[in-house]
Amino acid sequence: MFIKNAWYVAATSEEIAEKPLARTVCNQKLVFFRNVAGKVTALEDFCPHRGAPLSLGFVRDGNIVCGYHGLAISDQGKCAGMPGQRVGGFPSIKRFAVEEKYGFIWLWAADAETADVSKLPVLTWADSDNWAYGGGLYHIGCDYRLMIDNLMDLTHETYVHSSSIGQPEIEDAPPQTVVEGDMVVTSRHMHNIAPPPFWANALRLNELDPTALCDRWQICRFTPPSHVMIEVGVAYAGRGGYEADDAIKASSVVVDFITPETDSSIWYFWGMARKFKVNDAALTATIREGQGRIFAEDQEMLESQQRNLLANPERKLLKLNIDSGGVQARKVIDRLIAAETK
Ligand code: FES
Ligand SMILES: [Fe+2]
Repeated sequence: MFIKNAWYVAATSEEIAEKPLARTVCNQKLVFFRNVAGKVTALEDFCPHRGAPLSLGFVRDGNIVCGYHGLAISDQGKCAGMPGQRVGGFPSIKRFAVEEKYGFIWLWAADAETADVSKLPVLTWADSDNWAYGGGLYHIGCDYRLMIDNLMDLTHETYVHSSSIGQPEIEDAPPQTVVEGDMVVTSRHMHNIAPPPFWANALRLNELDPTALCDRWQICRFTPPSHVMIEVGVAYAGRGGYEADDAIKASSVVVDFITPETDSSIWYFWGMARKFKVNDAALTATIREGQGRIFAEDQEMLESQQRNLLANPERKLLKLNIDSGGVQARKVIDRLIAAETK
């Protein structure tokens, strides 16, 4: 079950070039391509002639041409021509609303007529020269809510990411969760600790002392339908922590757009936005590589967890205090889905 009246990240801008892109979002098979003006279109990936996937075709003059018998479909989903046929009476296919913003292609999962551009998230880090961003895309075989649970409870870092961002002090600092309307915020603050390897390195890259004792924070914000932005960082201990001056901290925003593909698989758009050394492209690449390695560790755990859950659907699971961020996020999702379906 997915929230439908919402924008999901379906692709990055670079993914939609000359060739059509096939991508399933919320169980809907779609084809993405650009029209003559370069605007991205999303149609159902289904040729009205004999049902071939349009994504196996090609783009010509801003239309998508079916790779089976050459039926051309416009960016509005209308049949625009076919060799030797009059297409006037052919049925149109379903078109979905898409917006290209912040380097991503956003898909409205409900009917195109209901699309509400004002509901697109506002991403200050994506719109500002004071921030640098690097990220990637993983396809993961798990229910999107398992990934939300994962990101709203970073206790797992100590175990899953022990060599990079994990450290035992995480468990000693209980998280606080608050719900603000449709947003769920889970925060954890650690004080007077040695930075773990990833953060020691970030301090070094920011020309700060990697051996200094630090205050560390993780502030996870879930917003519907399935986005989790996490403010993370370290600052020299006792200098204000999260509120400390930028000159004595290394901090960033972990960006997670979790787009359901099917009931048990996701397109996971991950990245990191940072405010230090923003013009250093090599640093962006280094951070991206490190983050990609860390998130691959989650992939293995989540896919194994999903297989276990599918094999044991009757098993009841525990809910501990560390799970409250994910539990509250699921409540928001359930409430919004119920409101859409009543
Ligand atoms: S199936 Fe697409 S043109 Fe025939
Ligand atoms: Fe993780």
